[in-house]
Amino acid sequence: MSLILGIETSCDETAAAIISDGVRVLASSLASSSKLHKKTGGVVPEIAARKQLESIIPVVEDCTEKSGIKPSDFDAVVVTVGPGLIGSLIVGVETAKALSLAWNKPLIPINHLIGHIYGNFINRDPSEIYFPAVVLIVSGGHTDLVLMKDHGKFEYLGGTLDDAAGEAFDKVARLLGLSPYMGGPAVSKAAKEWEGSSSSFTFKRPMVDSKDFNFSFSGIKTAVMHKVSVFKENMGEVPVTEIAYEFQEAVTDVLVYKTVKAAEKYGVKSVLLGGGVSANLVLREKMKVSLEKSKINLFIPPIELCTDNAVTIASCAHFNFYPRKINEVYANQSLSVSDYL
Ligand code: KG4
Ligand code: ZN
Repeated sequence: MSLILGIETSCDETAAAIISDGVRVLASSLASSSKLHKKTGGVVPEIAARKQLESIIPVVEDCTEKSGIKPSDFDAVVVTVGPGLIGSLIVGVETAKALSLAWNKPLIPINHLIGHIYGNFINRDPSEIYFPAVVLIVSGGHTDLVLMKDHGKFEYLGGTLDDAAGEAFDKVARLLGLSPYMGGPAVSKAAKEWEGSSSSFTFKRPMVDSKDFNFSFSGIKTAVMHKVSVFKENMGEVPVTEIAYEFQEAVTDVLVYKTVKAAEKYGVKSVLLGGGVSANLVLREKMKVSLEKSKINLFIPPIELCTDNAVTIASCAHFNFYPRKINEVYANQSLSVSDYL
């Protein structure tokens, strides 16, 4: 049995979790500074880092106390090393190093993007997930399609050339006056209010016809901005729910189309989603319907494991148990999905 303490501090969440055998959650604690960032309309890195510093010890303490596990029983301390905000990452990385030294436990660095994939393994028999798999990692900072041949064996297929899908959701939420920060759920809620009505317009599906597996979401954000100003000028009122609905339709159509195309091209057995945007109910449903008649199994993490947390980070380390020396572990804000560790 493996017992792993995971730490995640890549952005505005301070999280710790204890996982056994990579799939069972024994304890999890999370503190978020998102309320502060709502006030400023986005994450202020300096504020996020200070909050990480205030929260990290209480969060780790709370998590270990809840689990009742003694430090001597851990097999490793693992930590997100990137990508993310450098000030936030450093807090987690240096805390993990200190714990690893104090407890004399192996230290394992984890790529946050790869960590997102492991939300699919929690409370599941891992042998149910067959490889090769196509993985769509879709978050606030990234939108990547990856061919996962096995644990630790990845081939990059494509990704966004500009904005990430989550970033587009966040910007559209601001444009529509729905939410100043982390606007995905607010756009989704507004879209639901329009669902079933007939729209007077649609948005282009960006890059849907390109031969590669790349995405682009900055044009659709500009199209939304344009739509908002045209409606304001001509009608004096903006049809917020209609725009939210059409925006969500366009983005989810492209994500599903390219993921299914990649799955077919590489003849994979599974499709896995991960990252904050995979909490989107329309994306989840469309992906399910698109793969229903195929032999490809679809795996989507439970909603609470789509956004940032330490459970997925700890799970990832169980399946990729590669400890590093303390001086080889450092925060790297611009780590990409291809930089495995
Ligand atoms: O993975 P995550 O928690 O943080 C990053 O690693 O970036 O993803 C956060 C992103 C935000 O852009 C947020 O608006 C988006 O995920 N998100 C959603 C939903 N829930 C979170 N986007 C669309 N629909 C949702 N239900
Ligand atoms: Zn994330």
